[in-house]
Order: sequence, then C-alpha cells, then structure tokens
Amino acid sequence: MPAGKSSEPAPEAGWASCGGYEVSELAARDIHAYLDRHQDKSLLRFITCGSVDDGKSTLIGRLLYDSKMIFNDTFEALAADSRRVGTQGENIDFALLVDGLAAEREQGITIDVAYRFFATERRKFIVADTPGHEQYTRNMVTGASTADLAIILIDARKGVLTQTRRHSYLAHLLGIRNIALAVNKMDLVGYDRAVYDDIVADYRAFADTIGIGEVTALPISGLGGDNIVARSGPMDWYGGPTLIEHLETVAIDADLDRAKPFRMPVQWVNRPNLDFRGFSGLVAGGAARPGDKVRILPSGKVTSIARIVTFDGDLDEAVAGQSVTLTLADEVDCSRGDVIAAAAAPPEVADQFEASLVWMAEEELLPGRAYWLKSATQNVSASVQELKYQVNVNTAEHLAAKTLELNGIAVVNIATERPIVFESYDDSKDLGGFILIDKLSNATVGAGTIHFALRRAQNVHWQAIDISRAARAAQKHQQPKLLWFTGLSGAGKSTIANLVERKLHALGKHSFLLDGDNVRHGLNKDLGFTDADRVENIRRVGEVAKLMTDAGLIVLSAFISPFRAERRMVRSMFPEGEFVEIHVDAPLAEAERRDVKGLYAKARAGKLPNFTGIDSPYEEPEEADIVIDTTRMTAEAAAERIVDFILDRSV
Ligand code: ADX
Repeated sequence: MPAGKSSEPAPEAGWASCGGYEVSELAARDIHAYLDRHQDKSLLRFITCGSVDDGKSTLIGRLLYDSKMIFNDTFEALAADSRRVGTQGENIDFALLVDGLAAEREQGITIDVAYRFFATERRKFIVADTPGHEQYTRNMVTGASTADLAIILIDARKGVLTQTRRHSYLAHLLGIRNIALAVNKMDLVGYDRAVYDDIVADYRAFADTIGIGEVTALPISGLGGDNIVARSGPMDWYGGPTLIEHLETVAIDADLDRAKPFRMPVQWVNRPNLDFRGFSGLVAGGAARPGDKVRILPSGKVTSIARIVTFDGDLDEAVAGQSVTLTLADEVDCSRGDVIAAAAAPPEVADQFEASLVWMAEEELLPGRAYWLKSATQNVSASVQELKYQVNVNTAEHLAAKTLELNGIAVVNIATERPIVFESYDDSKDLGGFILIDKLSNATVGAGTIHFALRRAQNVHWQAIDISRAARAAQKHQQPKLLWFTGLSGAGKSTIANLVERKLHALGKHSFLLDGDNVRHGLNKDLGFTDADRVENIRRVGEVAKLMTDAGLIVLSAFISPFRAERRMVRSMFPEGEFVEIHVDAPLAEAERRDVKGLYAKARAGKLPNFTGIDSPYEEPEEADIVIDTTRMTAEAAAERIVDFILDRSV
C-alpha cells in the first residue's frame, strides 16, 4: 500500500487532546515528529482487530495506561467518568479513555481509524485502532498498510466469530507477518485453560486454511490487566510472553526492508535552478550510496548516484524509511512516478497483473470501467478485466463472481493503460500495493495487492503496420470520425443515425453504423443489462469503433450508453475532435409515450428488470458536442444538422 509516511514536523497544536483527554492521539502525519523524542528506539506499528465489544478499547487503554503514557489529571478524569458510567469495583473502564469522543461513547462503537502512540523502555509503538463495523475493510486497509503486527481479539465467551475470520483474512492479505491472537475476557470464563486451548485450536485450524503461518496466542484480561504488562496470577498455567513482551521483541518490517535491493519511487523532481536537479522520495527498500549504479524505471536507463542530499547536509547512505533527494551522474529522463532502483536487481515493468482486490465502496465494482490506479507514486488509468474468483472469507472457498460489493474480496486480472513499475506484494508493500480511485467522485473504492504480471503482457507486442491510419483515411478522402449517439431507449438514436449514414453515403463517404440492438445479437450476445454488462458492452463497442476508424471509416454508434464514465473512456481513446458525442434528448415521459418496442410497458409491469429510465439510471451527457431536442426537431432536420456539423470540420 502507498504509505502515508511523512517527515514533516508536527505543529504543537496537532498533538491534540482526545475528547478532552491528553492522550497521545495524533494525525498520521504528525507522528514522526513526535516519535523523534524516542529516536533511538525501534518502532513497531500494529493494529487491533475485533468486533464491537471484544474489549479492544479497553486493551489499548490498558497498554497506554500501564506504559505510563497518561498524565495524572487525565487519569483522575477517567476515574470520575468510570464512576459516572457505572463500572463496577476498582477497575477503571479503559474503553472510556480510548473511545474518546462523547458521541462515539454514546453509540458504543469506535469510528474510523485512530492512531495512538505509546512507548516502553525497549520500543515505541503506534497502534491503529480499526473499528469492526461494516466499513471494516476500509478502516483495516488504512491501518494495516503499514502494520508489522495485528492483534486479533477474541472474546473468550464467544470464541472464533465470522468477524475474526474476516479480519484475519484481511490482515494476512495485507501482508501482516505477525498475528497475535489475544483471547480476552479470560476473567469471565474463570481463567479456564480448557476454554483457551479450544479457542486457540479452533483458530489455528482456520489460520491453516488461509495460509497464515505463525500465530502467537495469549490468554489475557484487558480489564484486569492479566498478561498485558504484568503476568496473571490466576493464569499461572500460561508460560508464554505477556502481550507487551511480545510486542517488544517481534520482528519489524523496516528491518527486513533494509535488507532488500534499493528502490526509491520518485515523488517529485526538485529543480530550484538550472544547476541542480534532484529526485526526491521515500526510500522504499534497501540502501544506496553515492557511486552506486541505479536503473531508472520504466525506461530502463542506467546511471549512478552522485549525491544524497538532505536538508541537514549530504549523506553517505540512504536507507529504507528515509526521505531523501538523489542527484544522478548523468542527465537522464526521470520524473514523478518513476522508480530509481538498484541497477543489478530492478523491479519489473508490466501493464497486466493478477492481483487480490478488496472492494471498499457502496457502489459495486464494474469490470471494464476505468479507475485511477495509484501505486507508490504512480497514477495511471486501469480497469479490472476479469474476476477469476471471489473469496468467501469465512470458509476460504472460491466463488464465481462478475462483480464485487462492499467488503468483497476477489482475485482479479487488472490492466493498466501504460506499463507501471511493480513488485509482487510479498516482496514490496510499496511497489506491490495499490488503491483504485473512482474517476468522477475521487473516492477510494478498492485496494489491492499484486501477485504477478500476466505473461501475455510480456509476450504481446504492438505489431508495426506499414499502411498507416492516415494513409487509409486519405485513400477514402475523409477524416475518420466516431459519431456517438447516446440517449434513452426510444429517443430516436437509431433512426437519426440511420438517416445520417444515408446522407454520408450519398456524399460518397465511407461509413459504418454500429447499432445496440444489432451488436447485441452477435459480438455482445453474452451481455445483459446489469451495470457491469453495460460497461462491458460499451467497452467492446469502443474498441470495435476504434478499429473501424483506424481503417479510415466514419463510424456511427447508437447505444443507450447510460454512464458518463464509459462515454468519457471511449472519448479518451480517440484523437481530439474525432469523437463526436450526440445527445439524442427525449424526456423519459416522451420516450415512454412513444414506446416503439413496447418495452417501457413491460418494464413498468415489472417484466423487464434494469430498464434504463425505470430502474436503471441514465446519466445525461455534460459534454455533448451536439444536443438534439427530439421534441422540437424532426429526425430529418436532426440528421441534416449533424451532417452540417461534421462537414464543417472537413469530413
Ligand atoms: S446499453 O445500455 O448497453 O448501451 P444498448 O444500447 O446496447 O444498451 O441496448 C439497448 C437496447 O436493448 C434498447 O434499445 C432495447 O431495445 C433493448 N433492451 C432490452 N432490455 C433492456 C433494458 N433492460 N434496458 C435498456 N434496453 C433494453
């Protein structure tokens, strides 16, 4: 996953209080400056996963409290609050501390990811607290992308739940190497060893099926503090580490990253004047020194590092986790999104991949739709081509699927518009992780991990053809064009397109009409009218129209093409001015009144599902080149106007 690491100093005000408590709750970007105070200690990042009520907040509160990161006045406020809420006995309700905001407390759930900081003598820690309600994937992906360890919390009274399996699957998918199974609330089962052993055996069996190797299990009580920092009296049968001992000694990703070959995704090119050109970024893996040979990807150019520049002077070495500026020995092309890598062990470059994808949006995934794909500092247009299978995270079963809904996980093939630099996620979270962003709403809709490049990406090349596009068009004495008619069913797209083609033909122009109803009898007869099928319908039509314009033709296409995203995608495949969007505009009531094919009546009667305008959307064009108001203009007049329009542009 692209990590939100930053070395910007934090403003003092950023070390905000949490619902009035001075606990160390920080925005992600403020964390580094704060951690500088504990500079010489190693940093472990971890997440806690559990369902509502598993005692997550209590556990985190206990860690913060027992590691003495809470100030006295906060402690007193907390004790008062606990009395108010009515916690029994002398135990303080640590959940109150962590749940912070009053609104959250009232609802009894934690919202979004909160990062919290604490430190012990041996290590410093950042814990991402990810809530368990239905947006859990988004929260987990956010918290897990940089985590070294996940604490999977289980309520000893309940055992392994569906949520436990989901969280574990995601933690594993997101590459978290260390899983700590914390069987909590042991006090409520009488500290019974048999209960604990059963849960651990149950969990291990599940972990095996999804490929989680090692699990460290611990019996704890967040409320009583058993086996968190102090050992438990009642559970003297447990011989393993306490939670804090485990957190203090487990292996950290950053140490492993340093042993890898050098990689630095370029974040920006630093060019204050003509004499200096530096490439700035965060070192994602390995180390490099001045004089080391590096390769710039995707171009493949080789040069060497001249200097490693930082604000505080030049460095002898840049290592994983550092933000630096490199200068290179030669004047090579290198820009944002490129990767500077060890010349002898470069990452790969490809434009088609197999990947795991988790879907995080309310709207379903639409294969074929173009999304922005962000990986490291690269940003490219990409689409999911095929769902190989969806994963049932409860059983690890593979299911056939055409699309993904919120929290769905699948293995997919994905294609990028141009080649990107990547590594498998196992080798690099930075270069193997990506997110998908909706192009219209800018929302992050998915997150994925690259498995490998598809071999076909490497073995299929563009074949150079001697007769060019321009030569074909010139032979026909015309400019190729795609006249894209869009509008509701029954608006008159086919009628007008047909008239336009007759006029062009009479003028000696070479054309071809692609019509929705006709294409759906042949090339697209496997497609129906779900959103996903409509996206694929338009993608294929766009590709066919492209081939036909390459052949020099004027292509007319008459499809409802209800989605802006796909019309925009087809437009982007053509040179400026070649794609002409024509909105054949009829109000729904008018199209329905005409009901030439009797389909509206059927749809209203509930006999034709997903009918455009009735129970399937039509997104009106915002950038149409021509709008035909069919309530004011005859088909003949409309055709005349369209021909005029394109002839003016020298057809
Ligand atoms: S598109 O949405 O994928 O662009 P397309 O233009 O190919 O649709 O096909 C639309 C034609 O299919 C309509 O003119 C109509 O004759 C027919 N049709 C059958 N079922 C539907 C439906 N559910 N929604 C829209 N059109 C339908």
